[in-house]
Amino acid sequence: MDKEQEAIEILKKYNQNHIVNLLNKLDEVKKQELLDQINRIDFGQIMELYDNTKKEIEIKENKIESIDYLDKAKLSKEQREKFDTLGEELIRSGKYAVVTMAGGQGTRLGHNGPKGTFKLDVYGKGKYLFEILKDNLEEANKKYDTVIPWYIMTSKENNQATVDFLEKHNYFGYPKEAVTIFTQSELPLVDTEGKLLISKDMKIKEASDGNGGTYSSLRASGSLADMKNKGIKWVFIGGVDNVLLKMADVTLLGMAIDKGVQIASKSVVKANPHEKVGVFCKMNGHPKVIEYAELPEKMAEEVDSDGELKYGESHIMCNLYTIDAIEKASKEPLIYHSAFKKNSYIDENGKEVVPSEPNSYKFESFIFDAFEFFDDIAILRGKREDDFAPVKNREGVDSPKTAKELYEKFWNRQNKK
Ligand code: UTP
Repeated sequence: MDKEQEAIEILKKYNQNHIVNLLNKLDEVKKQELLDQINRIDFGQIMELYDNTKKEIEIKENKIESIDYLDKAKLSKEQREKFDTLGEELIRSGKYAVVTMAGGQGTRLGHNGPKGTFKLDVYGKGKYLFEILKDNLEEANKKYDTVIPWYIMTSKENNQATVDFLEKHNYFGYPKEAVTIFTQSELPLVDTEGKLLISKDMKIKEASDGNGGTYSSLRASGSLADMKNKGIKWVFIGGVDNVLLKMADVTLLGMAIDKGVQIASKSVVKANPHEKVGVFCKMNGHPKVIEYAELPEKMAEEVDSDGELKYGESHIMCNLYTIDAIEKASKEPLIYHSAFKKNSYIDENGKEVVPSEPNSYKFESFIFDAFEFFDDIAILRGKREDDFAPVKNREGVDSPKTAKELYEKFWNRQNKK
């Protein structure tokens, strides 16, 4: 059977007749490109993920326990000094690297361009999200007399726009040779009837496959090997959209080194017992971030002898790993979750449809699903006002408005010190 016939069989088997119609309308070059893409896509996997969106979430019988953490504000002077010294020594020795996950679509924010290119209206002049991250790394470089290698993960969708933007702004003054941009893997988007969306360039529309793809993409892109060549021992992985993210927190790093763990994370305490965030726990003896929907109500409200929520440490995408932990996570398959999102597409008449409501499923693996591959994690509780100001939504909670307020308040406090 030739390539085209084989592709048509697959498309028919998986009910994708609109793509068969599209094939017939394309010129030879475009047709070959689409055929190659069809050959590469695992339709069985995509249809299984789509079918899962119709099923009730199965809450398995799991043994859930609270997890230990240290509160940064309550460390003794000796403890704090010990951690800070250990962390500082490691960063000074050039064995520390940082990864920014910038492959998301940022659909809720609705900014035209990669999220890192969004300008937050701070102090009149405004600052781009990438620039805010750069400021944080630059501050650490000055303090610890080093240049931290900075790896930025993009998606195939936003890679070119990200590279163009950073080039245009000369990496905001960060040494260019210390910046590596790599691209993550992707999966097709599926509408509510299980049909794959078509993109403007007359291909099957694909999008990045979630921030859990960071580990395998670090390996596949050669960035992990590059880190090893540089002698990197610890790697920080964080998001692009928290304007108070501290990427080189020596207390967190030193605590991880002191405890001899392979992974560590900064948390902030839940705003209230029912805040819709994922929280840390131990599940069947392993570290885990449990989604709010899966945490039984009684547990969500449970407090310990100090009156603190037993399941109160929220995951804020502020994670640290040994280089071996990244390698291990890069080889473990992570489960995919589905997110219902707004995605534009080309309809059967060749017209672009820009939906005003979510219309399609994006399949994503989550960075924290890798935690369960490890025996332990060191958690340091930070402070919301110092560590967490995300830009997620266009308006309301976690929006540019709330992030601007938190950012300016933080810096006003720092400048008064
Ligand atoms: P979110 O899950 O908040 O998604 O990403 P998002 O894409 O930024 O926004 P929405 O949900 O479409 O509105 C958290 C972090 O993970 C990164 C994002 O760039 C952000 O830093 N991410 C997310 C990736 O790098 N790749 C992905 O596939 C998904």
